[in-house]
Amino acid sequence: MSRTITVIKGDGIGPSIVEAALQILDKAGCGFSYDYVDAGMTALESEGSLLPQSTIDAIARNGVTLKGPLATPIGEGFTSVNVELRQKFNLYANLRPVVSFPGTKARYENIDIITVRENTQGMYSGAGQVVSENGSTAEATSIVTQKGSEDIANFAYELARKENRRKVTIVHKANILKSTSGLFLKTARRVAEEYPDIETNEMIVDNACMQLVMNPEQFDIIVTTNLFGDIISDLCAGLVGGLGMAPGANIGRECAIFEAVHGSAPDIAGQNIANPSSVILASIQLLQYLGMREESSRILAALKDVIKSGDRTTRDLGGTAGTTEFTQAVLSRL
Ligand SMILES: NC(=O)c1ccc[n+]([C@@H]2O[C@H](COP(=O)([O-])OP(=O)(O)OC[C@H]3O[C@@H](n4cnc5c(N)ncnc54)[C@H](O)[C@@H]3O)[C@@H](O)[C@H]2O)c1
Repeated sequence: MSRTITVIKGDGIGPSIVEAALQILDKAGCGFSYDYVDAGMTALESEGSLLPQSTIDAIARNGVTLKGPLATPIGEGFTSVNVELRQKFNLYANLRPVVSFPGTKARYENIDIITVRENTQGMYSGAGQVVSENGSTAEATSIVTQKGSEDIANFAYELARKENRRKVTIVHKANILKSTSGLFLKTARRVAEEYPDIETNEMIVDNACMQLVMNPEQFDIIVTTNLFGDIISDLCAGLVGGLGMAPGANIGRECAIFEAVHGSAPDIAGQNIANPSSVILASIQLLQYLGMREESSRILAALKDVIKSGDRTTRDLGGTAGTTEFTQAVLSRL
């Protein structure tokens, strides 16, 4: 029986890049069936809700979801659907790898960094958001727990072992945020002691940003809290050619959602110029999660080959091809 994957095509450039990834999964012979549901603005327009119950049910039912970017209306009264999904399904680990691909014209050629971001707590817990009556003061509560910190640190070290990685860098701001970041650092240090085979270092987040720009090759796995991980992973995407090259996996104990790191890119939606690589790379993460190593390696090789040849890449990579031509080039390699 074929495995069923939940698919959320998303908003803006989402449908075109998700469609590209599905064509590639099919061409590689993955044999998936797709359970299509909506979320974000598309769902708000068609079903009156940013996150309909039918979408929640499909994610729970199938366990594995491929998701396009979702737009959140700016303004009061709307919670980010992405944040809601991560909390609802306790997708506590956000895995954001960046790898140099020859041919991207990126600033660096030798990058291989995974940001492991705590995905449900910290400043994104949504707790205590208050704006005073006269609008002059705003408050939000950052919640960090020992259990959440332990889980994410364990995840990072287990990943290091599984993937034969040499080093984990704990990124924090415990010098100023003594309670929240302090608890995260203390807990991560304790977990690190259980992994003497993996080198550990610590870095304050502002220094980490500077080091990532000046000397990114020193990093291997970065483990950090929610807000820092969100920002650092976009910075990392910039090291390898931009957001079009950055996938993200949201992993929980029962479900996983695979997506691009970037958003719905309204500035380029409908123009057939979006780079589909981020969602193609997210679907490679999905295949690895399901243990489908052979299919994932074949798709990765085809994608690398297209980017290296440079003849049919999208504008963000320095080429002139559209989303469909780029996808076609990957399909023909497969
Ligand atoms: N995981 C998600 O679903 C997610 C993540 C971030 C932002 N968002 C949402 O997306 C919307 C737009 O956010 P934004 O404009 O700040 O960020 P964005 O990531 O959508 O775009 C930032 C810049 O990167 C470019 N870009 C992004 N993806 C690209 C691709 N595949 N190929 C080529 N260029 C690409 C865009 O054109 C834009 O110039 C907002 O509603 C935001 O809430 C969703």
